Amino acid sequence: MEDANKKLQVKRIFDSISNHYDFLNHFLSVGIDLYWRKKAIRLSGMSPSSKLLDIACGTGDFAIAARRDGVNKIFGADLSLNMLSLFNKKVDWINGNLVECVAEDLPFKNETFTNISVAFGVRNFYQIPKAFKSFHRILSEKGKVTVLEFRLPTNRLVRNFYLFYFNKILPLIGKIVSKDKEAYTYLPESVDEFDKKIELISIFKQCGFSKVEKYSLTLGLTQVVIAEK
Ligand SMILES: C[S@@+](CC[C@H](N)C(=O)[O-])C[C@H]1O[C@@H](n2cnc3c(N)ncnc32)[C@H](O)[C@@H]1O
Repeated sequence: MEDANKKLQVKRIFDSISNHYDFLNHFLSVGIDLYWRKKAIRLSGMSPSSKLLDIACGTGDFAIAARRDGVNKIFGADLSLNMLSLFNKKVDWINGNLVECVAEDLPFKNETFTNISVAFGVRNFYQIPKAFKSFHRILSEKGKVTVLEFRLPTNRLVRNFYLFYFNKILPLIGKIVSKDKEAYTYLPESVDEFDKKIELISIFKQCGFSKVEKYSLTLGLTQVVIAEK
């Protein structure tokens, strides 16, 4: 799919499902998404002195978890205005620090942040290398990017269950609740395509990151990739 088309499709989907996003997210993942975000924050070693930009922040769950873990300087960026508006309504400390923009073209000065996070967002980017190059530019020396993303489990039993759930159950519930037919068929398709084609570690290295580490969570259902500038 062409970059411009993917950008429009992703924006349309998230603008459309924004009101149901939080409920469906926690319901469909039986709440385990909260643990995944917390674990990713701990692995990235953020501290109260960190300055975090949460990209593809959506309704803010990753940023909110980082704040609970003691990070005070937090900014959010997303291409969906509806998702950003919901984040703004959820908490009283992010107002003024939210930016409507794409990861591929970030309107921040060089070396502004010590940390960047992207939770369940990279899969939707229309140009991952372009986004990672812009992350590299706005991170300070030794700054870190933390990516949390779904993957297809390697164990055959877990994988079959996962595929059944993702391809049959999830689109059905997603369609009933959000009334958006495309949104929850897009999710399994995008995970499948992402898992087959995208190697995050090598893309990070090609974009100038020196050290990249990968962790597998919960039977390989999700991965955390941490890249250091
Ligand atoms: C699955 S949601 C994840 C939201 C949040 N990070 C979380 O953990 O719940 C994906 C978000 O990525 C945003 N997004 C997708 N492509 C983007 C891009 N190229 N630039 C910025 N945001 C993007 C969408 O608008 C959506 O809010």
